[in-house]
Amino acid sequence: LEEIVQLEGPQTIAGLIVEPVTGTNGVLVPPDGYLQGLRALCDKHGILLIADEVMSGFGRTGAWFAVDHWQVVPDILTMAKGLTSAYVQLGAVGLRQKIADHFSAVPFPGGLTYGSHPVACAAALATLAVMEDDRLVDHARETGALMASLLADLATRHPSVGAVRSIGLFGIVELVRSRETLEPLAPFNGGSPEMTALGKFFREEGLYTFVRWNYFFTNPPLTITETELREGFAIIDRGLAIVDASVTSG
Ligand SMILES: Cc1ncc(COP(=O)(O)O)c(C=O)c1O
Repeated sequence: LEEIVQLEGPQTIAGLIVEPVTGTNGVLVPPDGYLQGLRALCDKHGILLIADEVMSGFGRTGAWFAVDHWQVVPDILTMAKGLTSAYVQLGAVGLRQKIADHFSAVPFPGGLTYGSHPVACAAALATLAVMEDDRLVDHARETGALMASLLADLATRHPSVGAVRSIGLFGIVELVRSRETLEPLAPFNGGSPEMTALGKFFREEGLYTFVRWNYFFTNPPLTITETELREGFAIIDRGLAIVDASVTSG
């Protein structure tokens, strides 16, 4: 990244946008030091660090925000989904004081038809109150530890499982045709009869989750109980037993 910044010229880069834990593209949890390194790189060159926490924010990873796991403070942080528990549409942007101060003197030339809509803001306040009262972030972290062990267990017992990853209640299972070649069970940006059948099985069993290409997510509500989590993983277990038949070897 340092090389790319030098190649482009740091003065040409206003901001660096990153999902601290990449979501839809595979629950990619960065190694310790990565986000701290980005922070240092941005500081060195006067580049704003922008964290997209639309998916990873509000307790999903077992911390209020994913950046908290690495004690990194971005300059700008974007939020949505969990902010209202998705009952009402709302997005929000957090700014460090020095950036907010800039806009107290300079008008921000942006506007949305429903910006700061009172109903959405009320839903956000209610959501945050429940998250605090019910200690949902702690719950996500604690239940997330159980989910990590349930995911690891799937990986040991099902040859179709190529990889599992999770942080808090943000998890993913990647399926392969062969553990030797790691050939995905469906191609990039495509589907396969096995993945369609697995998605159908989940729905028929009452498990609603995001199935995409050769993987599916395990992102339960932050209120999930241990019993419910185990119930969900029992359905996944049965679904994978069917998929295992497509595994060629290894
Ligand atoms: C990580 C991430 N960033 C941004 C967005 C877009 O958010 P919005 O639809 O609130 O603009 C999404 C939506 O799925 C997302 O997952």
